[in-house]
Amino acid sequence: MKKAGIIIVELLLVALAFGVLYTRGVGLKESEETAVDIGQRIISDLPEPPVIEFSSVPKDKDEWYLMLINPWNSIPDGYVEGLDLSYIEGYRVDERVREHLEEMLVACRDAGHRVQLVSVFRTHAYQAQLYNNAANKMYSAYPGTSEHECGFAADIIDSDSAGWGDPLIDAQEDMPAQKWLMEHCQDYGFILRFPKDKVEITGILYEPWHYRYVGKEHAAKIMESGQCLEEYLERLDYEEKERIGS
Ligand code: DAL
Ligand code: ZN
Repeated sequence: MKKAGIIIVELLLVALAFGVLYTRGVGLKESEETAVDIGQRIISDLPEPPVIEFSSVPKDKDEWYLMLINPWNSIPDGYVEGLDLSYIEGYRVDERVREHLEEMLVACRDAGHRVQLVSVFRTHAYQAQLYNNAANKMYSAYPGTSEHECGFAADIIDSDSAGWGDPLIDAQEDMPAQKWLMEHCQDYGFILRFPKDKVEITGILYEPWHYRYVGKEHAAKIMESGQCLEEYLERLDYEEKERIGS
């Protein structure tokens, strides 16, 4: 009798375990599907691409630093394969950008801040992994459309935020090192690529940590004008057409 009781209890425990596993399994699947659904809805809600008539490839191939990479302009075939990558603080970066990034970090530290890189060059496979895992797809570029895959963008944080659960949040803008970077990045050829008020144009949410190299001349004009890269390139293109009278 006692033995039958034990068997019944064991059967109940097994049933309970199956129940928990099944519920968790279903729950996981649902939450994964929900995240993907949300991402797809956000992408389908993206505004129409801004009317920009130039190609993402600059007319002058020496102006690689002006290449437009965004949700509507993918990295040109073969571009990444031709990159010369070198290292900075353990991260790979386009060799042509390395010294400018280094100078900016040194100057930021000389100004008394603690600052660190958290992402620079990313392989296509790694970008795909990040994108697939991103709960909000508007914080992550679709693989093939990330400036990180070109090695000319860097995510930089104030080291005092390194212990936050996730330092890549809006509050990053209030950190002293980040304020310094936003104020001085153009002196080293960088722009804050995804400003708060340009989401409709860039297709990417505010990222007060993502800096993109465009060269000193253009960086100064972009940061001073308050335009984002898309708007600036459109203006350059317009001015060029005016100049040649087409
Ligand atoms: N977080 C930026 C948009 C990227 O993934 O390139
Ligand atoms: Zn970034």
